[in-house]
Amino acid sequence: MEIDLSGPLMSQFKRAKKEYEIAKEKKNESIARKKALECAKLLRQIAKYDGYNEKSYLEKAKKWEMVANNIEEAVNPSKANKPKSTKKPSSNKQSSPNTTEDGAEDEIDKFKNFVKNNLIQKSTMKWDDIGGLEEVKQLMMETIVISALQKPASIQPWKGILLFGPPGTGKTLLASACAGSLEATFFNVKASSVSSKYYGESSKIVSALYDVAREMHPSIVFIDEIDALTTKRSDGVSEASRRMLSTLLTELDGFQDKGSDRLILTLSATNTPWDLDEAVLSRFSRRIYIPLPDKDATKEIIKINTKGVKLDVNLDDIANKCVERLYSGRDLKNLCQDAIWNMIRDVNKDLYKMANLSYKELKRRKLKVRALTDDDFEEAFKKIKSPLTKSEIEKYEKWGEEFGG
Ligand SMILES: Nc1ncnc2c1ncn2[C@@H]1O[C@H](COP(=O)(O)OP(=O)(O)O)[C@@H](O)[C@H]1O
Ligand SMILES: [Mg+2]
Repeated sequence: MEIDLSGPLMSQFKRAKKEYEIAKEKKNESIARKKALECAKLLRQIAKYDGYNEKSYLEKAKKWEMVANNIEEAVNPSKANKPKSTKKPSSNKQSSPNTTEDGAEDEIDKFKNFVKNNLIQKSTMKWDDIGGLEEVKQLMMETIVISALQKPASIQPWKGILLFGPPGTGKTLLASACAGSLEATFFNVKASSVSSKYYGESSKIVSALYDVAREMHPSIVFIDEIDALTTKRSDGVSEASRRMLSTLLTELDGFQDKGSDRLILTLSATNTPWDLDEAVLSRFSRRIYIPLPDKDATKEIIKINTKGVKLDVNLDDIANKCVERLYSGRDLKNLCQDAIWNMIRDVNKDLYKMANLSYKELKRRKLKVRALTDDDFEEAFKKIKSPLTKSEIEKYEKWGEEFGG
């Protein structure tokens, strides 16, 4: 079993990035270059721990390497390792990897590049990484298969599927597994963050997103928190959200009409389906309830989240307790992490003393482990509280009866 070091590595990365910025400000090119390379190296390490975001970290690492390379070029043009390119020569101005491309590019390309660099995620998730939800998995698999197979024009697969249910039940996971198993391009978009961060440009981002999705098909477009865009919300929605939504709806309509055989499946997710208005619901005619895990699903999720560690427990008792306490998949993951930590601390008493060792040295050593016991879980149960109540669950069920299917 591996310990996830992405947290400490991320703080190291932030520190290196800050030091890079300071060095840039002081025009200390050699330190800036060193720090940029350090950033790249750390991001590559983080990528190893976070399979889900691996591609995005690796892309960011590449950009930091380019930053370092550009500095070298500016300081010593002959030594630099110039990539062969037919594009205009790169300027000496080193933009931070977070800033948008320079103004010379035409606008459409600018937004498409934004989408490619920020909204595409590498997904290595497979259907087996999801516990329970058998019917949902089957339905999604069918949708994908129908899209891919040759068929008469009158047979139209679903283009938009809405996943609704309590938080932490695996909606994001399903979208990710869908993309991962198909090796499709996975666009992961949080509606609220695009509309608030890119105010005024959010609708261009959505158009660009579908342009890229068509180019890079098969594609899974995942729109999380779609409720943030809808007009029924009591707090009202911003102009940006409204524009983003109308572009999104137009794109969804467009696909329906073309009947193209390219697979571009839009999945959306919400924890508050009752906030969705008619305009949204009509485009997502397939609406699937993602409930809290039942006992069998709970057992599966516990097994998935304790992979590589033996279980010396009464799993039925534990699962019953989890169901009774309204645990979501996320709560179960946290429960397992906590139980594992209890075990690790128990058998590795002086773990914290190793914090002074270098990463390289740590990589050489092995963590002691033993089977998980009921006691490890007992301690963990004390810490994990579900935020849900029975009446909230009923609210989902009721909405599902009325609008789901
Ligand atoms: N059915 C499930 N099987 C396995 N793990 C799950 C399941 N549901 C949730 N999890 C765990 O909880 C985490 C959060 O789930 P997520 O898909 O982000 O929930 P949602 O999008 O519904 O809020 C996942 O990363 C996973 O570790
Ligand atoms: Mg989610």
